[in-house]
Amino acid sequence: MLKKKSLFINGEWVKASQYVTLTSPYSGEAIAEIPVATAEEVDAAIEAAEQARDKMRSLPAHARAAILEKLAALMEARAEEAAQIIALEAAKPIATAKGEVARTIQTYKFAAEEAKRIHGETLPLDAAPGGENRVAYTVREPLGVIGAITPFNFPMNLVAHKVGPAIAAGNTVVLKPAAQTPLSAYFLAELLEEAGLPSGALNVVTGSGRVVGDQIVTDERVQMVTFTGSPAVGIGIRNKAGLKRVTLELGSNAAVIIDKGVDIQKIISRCVQGAFAFQGQVCISLQRVYVHEDVYEEFAKAFMGATNRLVVGDPLDPKTDVSALISPADVDRTLAWIEEAKQNGARVITGGKAEGRVLLPTVLLGVDPALKVSCQEVFAPIVLINKIASVEEGIALVNDSRYGLQAGIYTDNIHTALMAAEKLHVGGVMINDIPTFRVDHMPYGGVKESGTGREGLKYAVEEMTEMKLVVFNRN
Ligand code: SIN
Repeated sequence: MLKKKSLFINGEWVKASQYVTLTSPYSGEAIAEIPVATAEEVDAAIEAAEQARDKMRSLPAHARAAILEKLAALMEARAEEAAQIIALEAAKPIATAKGEVARTIQTYKFAAEEAKRIHGETLPLDAAPGGENRVAYTVREPLGVIGAITPFNFPMNLVAHKVGPAIAAGNTVVLKPAAQTPLSAYFLAELLEEAGLPSGALNVVTGSGRVVGDQIVTDERVQMVTFTGSPAVGIGIRNKAGLKRVTLELGSNAAVIIDKGVDIQKIISRCVQGAFAFQGQVCISLQRVYVHEDVYEEFAKAFMGATNRLVVGDPLDPKTDVSALISPADVDRTLAWIEEAKQNGARVITGGKAEGRVLLPTVLLGVDPALKVSCQEVFAPIVLINKIASVEEGIALVNDSRYGLQAGIYTDNIHTALMAAEKLHVGGVMINDIPTFRVDHMPYGGVKESGTGREGLKYAVEEMTEMKLVVFNRN
């Protein structure tokens, strides 16, 4: 008998009127029965969040921090279970899933710290004639109800990047996790209940994006929507959200430039990891590699060798590096994109085919920038390696994209590094690293179709609070 989950509304586990069967992306086996929330159930979740606003707003900073610290401790105690949930529902290789859980704990710890340092500033109003004899300061107030719509690829940590700062700032949350990864979100609700979060401060509703997501985005009681996912959905949210604040973390076709003179053997395993971790289903996954002609042959050969050593298989096997894509439709899509690349002159030097639901790690050489594997976000274990004559050419290729999340450059030349830092049109430049680098307190977000706003606890707290000015007239 499959475990039947319940919606989490107003601190209660509520049986839903409709259910759908969740299956493993790797084996296709049924895992659980998941609620499909109706409009009335979503409405109840939003109302619970609305009613809990005052309670959360009046919780002192130390109390909000204590809830988040307790949450981190509870997750630490059940870390193995958390990793198993991620591996099962997302087909994330268990070693990588454990890494995600460790990061999630960090994220909640950072959120607890941020809860204690939300502050404004004093302003010298007498800098303007007419401003004399006034004392002015700003404070940051919680927005109220935050609608959080989260993706499948980091079902614990990208939820933490929304729920953590929301609680730190004294907001309430209606969370809609990705349809494929609801178990991580329900696990979080269980832990937050135990951590003493007031009823209604977190509500979890699962179901279709079109019904649940749209309702959250358009409901007037929701003050902000924070979304991570595809550009198409993100743009749709922005168009529907009206005057709500919106943070969007969208996709990218992230790239790295490898300059001449770089020690190739030293960087290969890092680049392979950036391309294939969690099957490339990471917004900052390394998709495009632009290598200086002096070191191109050496890089391509070493990269192919390291790729061929990756272990492909069951996400629950600790030896597995690469497992199934999130859906069979994604296997079909990516095989079609590889075929298009082959038809247009690209060389597949390894991979290029699927074993069941697993797309083998695929390396392509000489890919035209107009092809889908280059100009679209592949979100799969596919990387292209192209030759460049100069770093300037590499920068132009990196910037020739609808996206701009993060980019990397390996170079031994400080002037080249600084020039790239200035010229790359992205949210974050990683010098001597892959674009896939992220630790959870750094500002994270993109330009162009990669989104708007920034995550990273301090920055997310700014997005989730409103600045209020107070002026005292002493005249
Ligand atoms: C993402 O896919 O946007 C998140 C990447 C990360 O947190 O490492």
